[in-house]
Amino acid sequence: MIAIVDFGSQYSELIARRIRETQVYSEVMPYYTSAEEIAKFRPRGIILSGGPNSVYAPNAPHCDPGIWDLGIPILGVCYGMQLMVQQLGGRVEQADRGEYGKASLTIDDPTDLLTNVDDGAVMWMSHGDSVLEMPAGFTVLAHTANTPCAAIANPERNFYGVQFHPEVVHSIGGKALIRNFVYHICECEPTWTTESFIEESIREIRSQVGEKRVLLALSGGVDSSTLAFLLHRAIGDRLTCMFIDQGFMRKGEPERLVKLFKEQFHIPVEYINASDRFLNLMEGIIEPERKRKLIGYEFIKVFEEESRRLGPFDYLAQGTLYPDVIESADTNIDPATGKRIAVKIKSHHNVGGLPPDLRFVLVEPLRKLFKDEVRKVGTVLGLPAEIVKRQPFPGPGLAIRIIGEITPERLEMLRDADLILRQEINRSGMYNELWQAFAVLLPTVRSVGVMGDARTYAHPVVLRFVTSEDGMTADWAKVPYELIGTIANRIVNEVPGINRVVMDVTSKPPGTIEWE
Ligand code: XMP
Repeated sequence: MIAIVDFGSQYSELIARRIRETQVYSEVMPYYTSAEEIAKFRPRGIILSGGPNSVYAPNAPHCDPGIWDLGIPILGVCYGMQLMVQQLGGRVEQADRGEYGKASLTIDDPTDLLTNVDDGAVMWMSHGDSVLEMPAGFTVLAHTANTPCAAIANPERNFYGVQFHPEVVHSIGGKALIRNFVYHICECEPTWTTESFIEESIREIRSQVGEKRVLLALSGGVDSSTLAFLLHRAIGDRLTCMFIDQGFMRKGEPERLVKLFKEQFHIPVEYINASDRFLNLMEGIIEPERKRKLIGYEFIKVFEEESRRLGPFDYLAQGTLYPDVIESADTNIDPATGKRIAVKIKSHHNVGGLPPDLRFVLVEPLRKLFKDEVRKVGTVLGLPAEIVKRQPFPGPGLAIRIIGEITPERLEMLRDADLILRQEINRSGMYNELWQAFAVLLPTVRSVGVMGDARTYAHPVVLRFVTSEDGMTADWAKVPYELIGTIANRIVNEVPGINRVVMDVTSKPPGTIEWE
């Protein structure tokens, strides 16, 4: 295991992912974790992350100096390296010239940390401060045009520092460097594999749950589906999957999901059709936040009623992932100021959340995993690509893609347009290149058209195609004109009530991905 001590870098999670890609487990912990606490994890190595501060600033976050005496190899990255230098008696100051972006690395010592990293390798830099004087026992491993100490080492104590960010994709040779640290310097074994995770989780689930019953709210997304597979493996029929259809799913999806689970996966699902309740509730509702809130509250009500009917249950399974754990726990809160120190801000969009006064104990077997790791677990457990690679779909579903009032007729119109869009995107082979592809129905707007010899006066639909890494930022996707043309043509011809198709070419920011 490698412990990553976080000083508020936007890249700490990325470092953890890079380590795990080498099949070694890693966890992020806040900078104020004591050396004693860190040692309890029995890490083979410690990485000190970057961070937005200067090490000499008055309130700069420092680590427990006790970590220097743990006898564990340490790699400092950017701020982490500067902190190492400062705490061990060297000098860090504002550089004459900071370095931002790509820089070419000249290697002075190609041994251990830099084995298999090419001389001249391009590394990603982002720093305004520099190491002016190294602590005793350190030597320079590499430099760049503007940074004399770009990589340093004290091999005797197994302390290493790099001014660049080996974790970002633009750093060529970054992966080799990380492997050198993990395997050669820390002597880790590649034990973090999907298979070992599954085995261990099954053991843990069995020991946590015993003979009791577990309830799982299935949504059809990759997280809840993977969770269902894992739990079913562990406890079989003591798992009850409940799928609540709020009536705003895409055409054919509820039926498809239930059929897949029942007939192909042999995992029973309680299908709750609550669409009438939700549709009635939406009568006259226009304001987006009100829509979302009402749907959220109703979902909880249905969930509670149905769990009482099907229960009693002792446990509730939740698809909490590692980024949720890092972001929502107190791990990134500065105890001195009470402020979060991570720069990244992520909003959570849960399906209105589940009741705070849960009568259940939570089972959260995915809480150690990143999303890409969940996909791997799902795949190994036998989930088909149509679920593992499914594009994200918001909890309130099509309700937030119908701008203005939701009526059964408008819902049907959007469903039909959306189905055509999906069929054509699938046919084109572009589905997996896009983060999301969907249609949005506009309110009241109508425009004049002509079909056959008749004048039409009907509604427009908006096509939205976006690419994104994580949904936090997004770009509108440059989908081929021919494909847009085919979709538009089919929608206008096949969906009564729609006579015009337009396209949303807004990125996020300033737009959001969804319209509501
Ligand atoms: P926005 O519209 O905020 O969306 O740019 C970012 C990503 O989150 C999805 N999204 C949701 N997912 N429940 C969800 O589970 C929600 O209420 C929700 N709202 C938005 C959206 O589809 C996009 O991928």
